[in-house]
Amino acid sequence: MTKLSHDGPQGPVDLYIGLMSGTSLDGVDGVLLELPRNLEWAQQSRAPSASRMRVRAHAHQSFPRNLRDELVVLTQSGPDEIHRAQCAAIELVGVYERVVIALLREETLGPAAVRAIGAHGQTVRHRPERGYSVQINAPALLAERTGIAVVADFRSRDIAAGGQGAPLVPAFHQAALWHPGEALAVLNLGGIANLTLIDDVGGVIGFDCGPANTLIDGWVRKHLGFEFDAGGSWAAGGRVSAALLRDLLAEPYFAAPPPKSTGQELFNLAWLQRVLAVHATLNPQDVQTTLAELTAATVAQDLQRHLPEARTLLVCGGGSENADLVQRLRRLVPGVDVMSSSTRGMPPQQVEAAAFAWLAARTLADLPGNVPAVTGAAGPRVLGAVYAS
Ligand SMILES: Nc1ncnc2c1ncn2[C@@H]1O[C@H](COP(=O)(O)OP(=O)(O)O)[C@@H](O)[C@H]1O
Ligand SMILES: [Mg+2]
Repeated sequence: MTKLSHDGPQGPVDLYIGLMSGTSLDGVDGVLLELPRNLEWAQQSRAPSASRMRVRAHAHQSFPRNLRDELVVLTQSGPDEIHRAQCAAIELVGVYERVVIALLREETLGPAAVRAIGAHGQTVRHRPERGYSVQINAPALLAERTGIAVVADFRSRDIAAGGQGAPLVPAFHQAALWHPGEALAVLNLGGIANLTLIDDVGGVIGFDCGPANTLIDGWVRKHLGFEFDAGGSWAAGGRVSAALLRDLLAEPYFAAPPPKSTGQELFNLAWLQRVLAVHATLNPQDVQTTLAELTAATVAQDLQRHLPEARTLLVCGGGSENADLVQRLRRLVPGVDVMSSSTRGMPPQQVEAAAFAWLAARTLADLPGNVPAVTGAAGPRVLGAVYAS
């Protein structure tokens, strides 16, 4: 069994696990992340980012059907929801535990080798304007089951400080993917699309652009019964409706300045149906195509507005597998290299989970995890609550 700390090529390193399940509700991604002991040094270092951290293992577990259905239900008000949310949290931790076991097994490690798990929890309500964001989670149970310390509830401190509590990944994107001197954009295509924009001297902004897979998945599920539009092939066979696209883009969220964050409270099928009411003759496939174009258009518009000098756009999240969507984006941002985050050493499905491993390390080191310029919080804050091992 590996001891708690050991030396890597750059000096002492620690291992963390990050667990992320986003609004696509597809399941849980987990990574085992190796980080230098001295995070502050690593942050200031101009060493290439890849040498500062390393994903040692990645594991994914899909949600069991009943848990997924229950999580969908819990995103809306409903009967007995406090009890149901707690029961779903306990089930969620069962999935988390399986991911942790798979990660440890892959590297033949015991729990004592890992300093902490950063467990994001499942967002069921995100209402920063009302002062809260709810991630259902059972961190005490996860600590008990795994014997590893758990850091959870990452968003509430930033919201308490007047921020959006989201996105929390931009600081990590900078630490893991940015090269000093370049203007870089990082796009996560999860349920929601979020952009991190880093200028050549390392100034960071970031925000949610709008819907990505949440509507793309929802529409194909409703019409064809598929979990997602594999490769975007259904969308690729349809035509963009310019009139529908114009009406969707009229949503005030898209024009609002950052800081801003959103979720399925706003961008859901009911939102789409309201706009579709005046486009009743459109066939479902053309709607799918228009939804893919909407995601690409909002990202392109945001990039042009906030970091026009960017020449590289790194794409991560499951939507990076949607070739049609990525192709649409490429067309709308000529002059920008649209590339997978893999080109910087971190495959798309690992980035968000790695971010929460890194954020857990920041918490244990008593270092802030939020970027006030991103979330709008009054200042940097140490995020999360720690459940000791
Ligand atoms: N081969 C694929 N083709 C098209 N879309 C895909 C593919 N693989 C994954 N996706 C999309 O990625 C989503 C999962 O992305 P993920 O980054 O895990 O999102 P979240 O963070 O919201 O869970 C799926 O719901 C699906 O929409
Ligand atoms: Mg996911």
